[in-house]
Amino acid sequence: MKTISFLSSALGVALSFGSAVLAQDYATHGTFTEPNTGISFYTSIEANGAISGDGDMSTVSVGGFTFGIALPGNAATVDSYEYIGLIVGSLTNGAGWSGIVQGDNTGAGMPNHLMLLAWPTGVGNTIATSFRYSVSYQAPVDYKGSAKVTPIFSKVNATSFTFVYRCQNCLLFDDPSQPSFNTSTSQGTFEQGWAQSTVSPADKTNPDSPVQQHNNGMGEFQITVSKAANAAYAKWAGISSTVPTSSASAAPYPTGNSTANSTASVVAPSSTLAAAPSSSVSATPTTFKGVPVPSATSYDYVVVGGGAGGIPIADKLSAAGHSVLLIEKGVASSARWGGTIRPESGWLDGYNLTWFDIPGECNRIWNGGSQGVACTDTDQMAGCILGGGTAVNAGLWWKPNPPDWDYNFPAGWKSTDLAAATGRVFSRIPGTDHPSRDGLLYVQSGWNIVSQGLASANWTAVTANNVPAEKDRTYAHTEYMYSNGERGGPMATYLVTANGRNNFHLWLNTSVERINRIGGHATSVDVIATNDGGHVGTVQLTETTGRVIVAAGAFGTPKLLFRSGIGPSDMLEQVQQSTDGPTFIKSTDWIDLPVGYNLADHLNTDCVISHPNISYYDWPAAWDTPITADKISYLTNRTGPLTQAAPDIGPMMWEVIKGPDGIDRQFQWTSRVEGSNGVPSGNSMTLSLYLGRGAVSRGRTTIGKSLNMVVQTLPYGDPNDLTTVGWAIDNMVNALKTIPNITINLPPPGVSGADYLKTIPLTYANVGARRANHWMGTAKLGTDDGRLEDGTAVVDTNTLIYGTDNIFVVDASIFPGMPSTNPSALIVTASEHASDLILAHPYPKKTTIVKKGGQCTNTGSSTGWFGWWGGVTGVGGSGNSLTCDEGLACKAVNYFSSVCQ
Ligand SMILES: *[C@@H]1O[C@H](CO)[C@@H](O)[C@H](O)[C@H]1NC(C)=O
Ligand SMILES: *[C@@H]1O[C@H](CO)[C@@H](O)[C@H](O)[C@H]1NC(C)=O
Ligand SMILES: *[C@@H]1O[C@H](CO)[C@@H](O)[C@H](O)[C@H]1NC(C)=O
Ligand SMILES: *[C@@H]1O[C@H](CO)[C@@H](O)[C@H](O)[C@H]1NC(C)=O
Ligand SMILES: *[C@@H]1O[C@H](CO)[C@@H](O)[C@H](O)[C@H]1NC(C)=O
Ligand SMILES: *[C@@H]1O[C@H](CO)[C@@H](O)[C@H](O)[C@H]1NC(C)=O
Ligand SMILES: *[C@@H]1O[C@H](CO)[C@@H](O)[C@H](O)[C@H]1NC(C)=O
Ligand SMILES: *[C@@H]1O[C@H](CO)[C@@H](O)[C@H](O)[C@H]1NC(C)=O
Repeated sequence: MKTISFLSSALGVALSFGSAVLAQDYATHGTFTEPNTGISFYTSIEANGAISGDGDMSTVSVGGFTFGIALPGNAATVDSYEYIGLIVGSLTNGAGWSGIVQGDNTGAGMPNHLMLLAWPTGVGNTIATSFRYSVSYQAPVDYKGSAKVTPIFSKVNATSFTFVYRCQNCLLFDDPSQPSFNTSTSQGTFEQGWAQSTVSPADKTNPDSPVQQHNNGMGEFQITVSKAANAAYAKWAGISSTVPTSSASAAPYPTGNSTANSTASVVAPSSTLAAAPSSSVSATPTTFKGVPVPSATSYDYVVVGGGAGGIPIADKLSAAGHSVLLIEKGVASSARWGGTIRPESGWLDGYNLTWFDIPGECNRIWNGGSQGVACTDTDQMAGCILGGGTAVNAGLWWKPNPPDWDYNFPAGWKSTDLAAATGRVFSRIPGTDHPSRDGLLYVQSGWNIVSQGLASANWTAVTANNVPAEKDRTYAHTEYMYSNGERGGPMATYLVTANGRNNFHLWLNTSVERINRIGGHATSVDVIATNDGGHVGTVQLTETTGRVIVAAGAFGTPKLLFRSGIGPSDMLEQVQQSTDGPTFIKSTDWIDLPVGYNLADHLNTDCVISHPNISYYDWPAAWDTPITADKISYLTNRTGPLTQAAPDIGPMMWEVIKGPDGIDRQFQWTSRVEGSNGVPSGNSMTLSLYLGRGAVSRGRTTIGKSLNMVVQTLPYGDPNDLTTVGWAIDNMVNALKTIPNITINLPPPGVSGADYLKTIPLTYANVGARRANHWMGTAKLGTDDGRLEDGTAVVDTNTLIYGTDNIFVVDASIFPGMPSTNPSALIVTASEHASDLILAHPYPKKTTIVKKGGQCTNTGSSTGWFGWWGGVTGVGGSGNSLTCDEGLACKAVNYFSSVCQ
């Protein structure tokens, strides 16, 4: 997830109905007495107007949008979980739907909030309503909680619909599969979100109908309880059922059918653009046609996750002669590996290219392209596809700044220790700051303006990867991992060489659900198919010497460890209560480590500037309808704008500032030509400020009852971190304000960095604007064994999980703290280095030695009489065991016993 776009509020919110990006409250508020019911509402209004771009944080919507709310008279002192709502939704040619996200006291981001969708059925004045929710930026599913909607009044005409309703248990979240929470009206304020679409659901009379993604604006606003509370509430709620609708028809109001076992297809409102086909996903878990795991086969190494950590290490381990199985849960991305995701308009049909291969399409995941690509089990955006973050990011590729190792890592991981690995990585993936094959740079209007100000402020222009240590008041053209005008990176290098070896195996569409272990020794992994063609069954590790490398990313890795009984007890208890419970490893075998803590990310703060000479290139349009000349030059010669990452990234700028606590903090600025935070694209640029090395804030990721991952504690907000960010903003404003004719939109004129920061919430609701999606640190590497009191490390300096003898973690999770830059190249470098350490690491000694003929526990798998089942089939089957003497295996001799033979 190393893309500027991953923090792009403009595109990011495209997926986040009820935007997670609330920098400000964009609605106009007022009060309105609805004439047909006499109910008085506190209103939040978006005016009629054309939306810009994806319509995030829109102050307008075509046709307008109004949400009104009335609360009980005492709601400011006694929490009310119900309200009376008013939706005045707009219709385009009679079509559309409108939705509300029932937020909480801190936010109304799309994940893990109740959504109420409403639309005219086309039958009289009736309105269909549907409660849905999603644990990620993915297809919402039917909500099974206790929320109840009772219609009070509705009226539909060609351009809009009015819907008044009582919503009970709507200000709490209690879907039985998820952690519950209540919104507290007595806190005085809470958040709500909205979105609209100009396209009606496929089946208007069916509340469970597939719904196309909102395309008519979205945003968030705050409800002031004192303005919504009204002593007449009880009366209004009481008369609700008696107020006649103006409907001539007696048709019932269809409401979501939560009693049905919904297998209805629900098209993701959050993951398909209107332009995308209405591919559907099942609202209930689907079983795919899995290929059984080959029997009687074992692997020296099972590498879990085909991303920046997993691909390089799988290559290195297989190069050393070991049998290696690389398991990736997603589909192929690059065409080279069989990927097929191409523009619906067909302009790439027949080419050996998918969106992942073309740099100019790199922010597609934020722009209607997340379906089947983004992880469905986390509340943050992440690529669950071959290549992981390196398939979906903007390809930024930075030679590591030495202090990133020296400051963050312990002995054995200092920059001098990493020098050899760095050399190997950059010999295979040198990267380039001139990705077009004609050596020219395109669409440089943003660079041209910003670099003027930096030069006059005496910042130094550098070629970043020639001088990786020069990261203080320097700026550079963006370095990418691209090669030959295509994405390149680990999938085009390490994976290619690995795949050329017959001791290397790659399984796509396969998820590792659990590592089975005997004490601290992994014996096998359980897999399921996530798509047709994936594998299902139990994969055996080579007896005694087999190893697992967990490389599933900063959320995927902790999830797998939790499910394997490795983590803090509160998380393992959560897994115990999930569907994993009946087969979960017993608590006496749990390994108590601080997995999921130490979550880090680059804190992002957006500044926005405008200048008449800056011109916007329409990258989202380039998905289906690229500019013809640019398309041709790309397809024929791999030249032109499409060889560069969207949206015109650069200049990149760095500064080091000592915080009030004496800690040097590394900043990186990423410029891009697009508006954000309410400033439209056109002549504007967003300058995104990342706080990197030296940040002391840390957060935590946790697992939910449905085994979804949540950022429970944001890794931002330490006062010294924030003070230093404020200074960095002031420095940049001072550098840029000298540019003739520049407008600095944000921070607003005269507002200091510190005061500007106070206006940008650091809440979960606003995480879309504050994250960089460079999540790291959830299985920290260190010398202080996390099983001990005050220990913080999950893996040792060999990347081996404490308390185990053959389970390693090699991905962003092991980073103790944030680096200077986008982290992809550092993760690949860490993987190269880890491969040396792991290959040199001795195999475990057998602890208990059982002589020939002695009873042993057959550990082929965890279930069955004496290990008869699982990976061991039939008399004579053998499983992994550390108990038998050298040269012997623990073999099942009958249904009841196994002996060393
Ligand atoms: C449709 O209803 C809206 C909301 O009540 C109203 O403002 C608008 O004038 C109506 N349009 C027509 C054509 O009646
Ligand atoms: C949330 O609200 C429900 C419904 O009133 C109530 O039963 C429950 O106790 C509340 N939970 C909390 C944590 O306040
Ligand atoms: C709800 O679902 C059940 C079971 O599928 C079905 O029998 C019933 O007709 C549905 N009700 C509505 C209102 O769609
Ligand atoms: C829903 O599924 C459960 C379990 O499969 C079944 O017992 C029940 O009858 C189903 N309900 C409906 C309405 O189909
Ligand atoms: C697709 O492109 C890759 C990378 O250039 C190349 O290795 C592969 O052979 C190509 N495949 C086909 C079918 O042309
Ligand atoms: C930049 O450097 C020059 C030459 O050293 C100096 O005269 C000028 O004041 C500096 N400008 C700034 C903004 O520091
Ligand atoms: C491709 O490159 C060749 C050689 O430089 C050039 O003659 C040709 O015009 C280019 N074609 C396009 C479409 O850019
Ligand atoms: C600033 O804008 C004015 C008015 O548009 C223009 O005449 C002038 O050339 C611009 N100056 C620069 C340095 O771009």
